[in-house]
Amino acid sequence: MSEQAHETIRIFVTGSCDGLQPLLEALAGSEELELLGANEHIAAAAPALAGGHLQVVLHATRSSILPINELAAIRELTRAPVILVCSSEASALLEEALEANVADVLVLPQFIENVVFSIRKSCHVGRSAEAPLGSEGRIVTVFSPKGGTGKTVLAANLAASLAHDEGKRTLLLDLDLQFGDAAIMLGLEPDKTIFDLVVAPGELDADKLTGYIVKHSCGLDILPAPLRPEDAELVTETKVGRLLEVARYAYEVIIVDTSPFFHGPMLSTLDRTDQLLLVASLDIPTLKNVRLGMQTLELLSFPRERVRVVLNRANDKVGIKQRQVEEALETEVWKSVPVDRAVPLSVNRGVPVVVADSGCDFSRGVHELAKALFPAKERERRVLSPLRA
Ligand SMILES: Nc1ncnc2c1ncn2[C@@H]1O[C@H](COP(=O)(O)OP(=O)(O)O)[C@@H](O)[C@H]1O
Ligand SMILES: [Mg+2]
Repeated sequence: MSEQAHETIRIFVTGSCDGLQPLLEALAGSEELELLGANEHIAAAAPALAGGHLQVVLHATRSSILPINELAAIRELTRAPVILVCSSEASALLEEALEANVADVLVLPQFIENVVFSIRKSCHVGRSAEAPLGSEGRIVTVFSPKGGTGKTVLAANLAASLAHDEGKRTLLLDLDLQFGDAAIMLGLEPDKTIFDLVVAPGELDADKLTGYIVKHSCGLDILPAPLRPEDAELVTETKVGRLLEVARYAYEVIIVDTSPFFHGPMLSTLDRTDQLLLVASLDIPTLKNVRLGMQTLELLSFPRERVRVVLNRANDKVGIKQRQVEEALETEVWKSVPVDRAVPLSVNRGVPVVVADSGCDFSRGVHELAKALFPAKERERRVLSPLRA
């Protein structure tokens, strides 16, 4: 198409669908692409997907529903953007795929020029995305190295606001594994938890995850913490890693509530965290611990630009001001949320404040936080229509 010399893009093709063979031949013949290989089975393609410095993966599917397990399996092996390829009979999954952050969807047959354009665009978006968002949901971890700072209140209400007000497919994951209370704060009494999910036989995949989710009436999905503290130790670092990989294909955003410790599951969460909300408040012991927490994050090589300090109970009249917090932490407070009587009232009633009292000061602060995390400018995505309808 263009005479301009482009750098060739390294691609790999997995899966199968009608009309894939002629596409493979065209891809192999394109001077703009380097087709490293094609394999119907993701497991068999694992070495190439993991080690090939791939720039784009094309995954073909015959399924009429979104193949989230296959997408999660690819995502575990490579962070390259994934383009879904299907035949026109499977076009019903278009919307769902775009919602799930698939980079693009190609309905066959297509002109090779269109396919190359889509690959080039996906490659560019994958490279320029601010966070490692490629084609997956965003993981926002709410942490503070001190108990009682408001992690759970903030995590639960932020998640509820994203689900209820912003219409995002949101999962609230309670990783305060010993004493998690996110579910109870939302008025839920779960009978299944993350513990039951990780000890259930068979591989953890998206279908299995769905079976252990508790749904809140505000539209939020929750995976509660174990009911007994002693069950926490079976929720290992590896299991949490796998869970997050699967979850970020099924959700647009995963809000993780945490305990005040850097244990194994937390390290595995940090590895996958796109934004860490570090909760501080206006008291000296908390500030001391938040500062220590920041040093630990640095030792763990957690990227500093992913850390955002959120000041809870920001208007407490306790003799310390936001400016002093910023000086003590040597960083700016990104957002602040006020103390509000509506919070303990709705915690005790088991309803999210942002839903029960959306106009109160606390809810307004949380809404602002939600909007700042997900500014309206959604990435433009293009669906190429087939040659024939
Ligand atoms: N902004 C706020 N205004 C009023 N009360 C708050 C606020 N944030 C937290 N709280 C209260 O503090 C208690 C502890 O908060 P929580 O979220 O459980 O802390 P953490 O999870 O960090 O241990 C909650 O039960 C809640 O009633
Ligand atoms: Mg908590």
